[in-house]
Amino acid sequence: MDYRLEQRAKVCVSHDFSKDLLETLKTSNYKKPLISIDSFLLQSPVVNKALDTLKQADINYVVYDEIVPEPPFEIVNKGAKLYQENECDSIIAIGGGSVIDASRGINIVSHCGGQIQEYIEDKTIDQRILGLIAVPTTSGTGSELSNALVVTDTKKQEKLAVLSDEAVSEYVILVPELAESMPKGLTISTGLDVFAHAMEAYTSNLSTPVVNAICEKIMFLVFKYLPTAVHHGEDLDARERMMVAAALGGWAINNGGTHLGHSIGHVVGAKYHLAHGNACAYALPGVIEKTALAEPKKIREIGNILELSLPNDLSNEELGKEVAKGFKHFRDEVLGLEPCKLNKEEVVSLTDQVVHERFAANAPFEVTHEIVGAILESYGG
Ligand SMILES: NC(=O)c1ccc[n+]([C@@H]2O[C@H](COP(=O)([O-])OP(=O)(O)OC[C@H]3O[C@@H](n4cnc5c(N)ncnc54)[C@H](O)[C@@H]3O)[C@@H](O)[C@H]2O)c1
Ligand SMILES: [Fe+2]
Repeated sequence: MDYRLEQRAKVCVSHDFSKDLLETLKTSNYKKPLISIDSFLLQSPVVNKALDTLKQADINYVVYDEIVPEPPFEIVNKGAKLYQENECDSIIAIGGGSVIDASRGINIVSHCGGQIQEYIEDKTIDQRILGLIAVPTTSGTGSELSNALVVTDTKKQEKLAVLSDEAVSEYVILVPELAESMPKGLTISTGLDVFAHAMEAYTSNLSTPVVNAICEKIMFLVFKYLPTAVHHGEDLDARERMMVAAALGGWAINNGGTHLGHSIGHVVGAKYHLAHGNACAYALPGVIEKTALAEPKKIREIGNILELSLPNDLSNEELGKEVAKGFKHFRDEVLGLEPCKLNKEEVVSLTDQVVHERFAANAPFEVTHEIVGAILESYGG
């Protein structure tokens, strides 16, 4: 049997981070956490209040604030050294996908040895690794509930993934107040990443009826609450809904996977250094159009979630075009994503790389050069 939808992390939503973090540490009797964070978030008043609370409770934490976006191997290995030297017993990751991914890597290396790059292909993890408390500050990657972590090989300029169900977070604390400081552009790109996760896991050939139900809800939450999070960033209800949607998205892609939107996002994004969510969102209209030919019922359901009025007698091709147009309206007019300024011919020249990207095989149709070329032709449009 191919059982899916395992969920091993204990998840809570908190409006009192200091109290709930301390309680979480006490639940597992953790006394010496590594605080893994970036230098910007270390200035956050919510974070500082929590660190004061830990100090007062005699929790003797160690701070590692050197994590940078798209973390390289060296940052993970250095963090693991610090963890081991200080004999830490847990790791509190406060940040976006980059901090949480790097922290999962630190946890793996600290417990299982070696260096993080050895886990990309050769080294396997055969025992549950506890101790990771993930506190996301963006609402996008879903890294807090994901079994993947992405690290960068700076020499080869390549982003590589380590996958392990044994290394998922032990606890996830969702604190909407931490997302309030996200600027508009970051809120849009990370929010569109959530939509892409749900749209792709929903239509991937790994999807299941249970994954589908979760994805429908995620897309509904993004459609309803991302505009408020973007235009009224102080609205805590909208921030909370997006945080929950993002976390569920991480869970959904553990089980349903992503497909062409992310394959294109990875290849084009890495080449032109685009924000991950933007790189995927520029590809989605073309992916929606092609997916409508294989999965018309699901694409019609996405159109319903986007509150489009879709006549019953549309051909699959027309349906794809209408839903792609509706998504574009949401992305560009309602949210205000910045226009894509890339040269079309250069983007189309990446066709072969996209065809061979590892997630492309999850698409619900055969991924040919012709199909990918046509999607890249419309990239950003
Ligand atoms: N593990 C997974 O399954 C998975 C999935 C997709 C992407 N990723 C990886 O996640 C990373 C991207 O993560 P991300 O999109 O969350 O961004 P990020 O973690 O790279 O952070 C981007 C920037 O936003 C800032 N930031 C974070 N929270 C903030 C806040 N509340 N207010 C103001 N600024 C804030 C950070 O300081 C940083 O400068 C990439 O490395 C990507 O490859 C992982
Ligand atoms: Fe993503």
